[in-house]
Amino acid sequence: EENRRESLMIVSGYAAKFFQDSLWETEEGQNIGLSYFKERGFTNETIRKFELGYSPDQWEAFSAQALKDGYVEEFIVESGLSVKRENGSLYDRYRGRVMFPIHSFTGRVIAFGGRTLKNDKNVPKYVNSPESEIYHKSNVLYGLNFAKKAIRDEDNCYLVEGYADVISVHQAGIENVVASSGTSLTVEQIRLIGRLTKNITILYDGDAAGIKASLRGLDLILEEGLNVKVVLFPDGHDPDTYVRLLGSSAFKKYIDDNRKDFILYKTDILLKEAGKDPILKAGVIREVVESIAKIPDSIKASIFIKECSTLMQIDERALLTELNKMRQAKA
Ligand code: CTP
Ligand code: MN
Ligand code: MN
Ligand code: MN
Ligand code: MN
Repeated sequence: EENRRESLMIVSGYAAKFFQDSLWETEEGQNIGLSYFKERGFTNETIRKFELGYSPDQWEAFSAQALKDGYVEEFIVESGLSVKRENGSLYDRYRGRVMFPIHSFTGRVIAFGGRTLKNDKNVPKYVNSPESEIYHKSNVLYGLNFAKKAIRDEDNCYLVEGYADVISVHQAGIENVVASSGTSLTVEQIRLIGRLTKNITILYDGDAAGIKASLRGLDLILEEGLNVKVVLFPDGHDPDTYVRLLGSSAFKKYIDDNRKDFILYKTDILLKEAGKDPILKAGVIREVVESIAKIPDSIKASIFIKECSTLMQIDERALLTELNKMRQAKA
């Protein structure tokens, strides 16, 4: 079992090297992959640090080279790098894509995300490695190996949606950043962060999907007993596009000025939807108390009830009654 895992990590590391060589050393890689990364504003140093690469736009470039170099077919296929045809031959999963290696906590390559360069709705934007013995995506946070020290030092972890968000924010000097790429945030991912810090700041995309995911993520984080704040970006922006628009110091200032406690964030979002209707407003209050009811520490919860009472101008005792009802319903 351990041997199998090691073999899978070795072939994944080999593939990362193959994609890096193809990016830096081949004409196709330079013209297509490298210029794409440059257009996105990634520096050479960043591209090297994150071990970004390029997969040649051919059916068997990687598979043939890996077999020629003596890698065992079973592991090449199990790692998801190649796919077996009916006739037994292998073809490459990633073709003509820029490659983002996904690392384990200790920095070994365990999987890949490959981004298309085509602007075609029928082509999936990202192709990700399938689950394997070394890659359980619900237990992995993209960028954690690069971020872990900064997360401890800053006692906070920024959570973003995508690969490019991690890389751009990191490049801007904010290194305590990770993404739940390719899956919606899981309890296992929150626990991974929880070993390094009790404070998470969500920086999701400023679109309907990002807002929805942030509300769901916030409840999960509260349930795990961690503190959570949220920064909302203008519609159509994600941390990657926004940091490139503002530059790193204005971006940092934006985060500091717009970081909202989860109650304030959730209240603002829901109140905007509810408008002036008193019944809808009551629903907002109930939903906010529902989030507070998820906090395991009852002293902390009562402090947030007080904040909510001030914020919504509602009698604190009424909120506490509501909170206790929800707690009992849960028990
Ligand atoms: N994702 C995925 N498969 C897709 C689309 C998205 O796995 N077909 C994952 C990727 O990890 C991606 C993240 O979800 O980074 C966020 O998706 P999205 O916001 O659509 O993409 P961006 O990360 O913003 O991609 P880019 O900036 O490269 O366009
Ligand atoms: Mn396993
Ligand atoms: Mn998005
Ligand atoms: Mn995005
Ligand atoms: Mn993006």
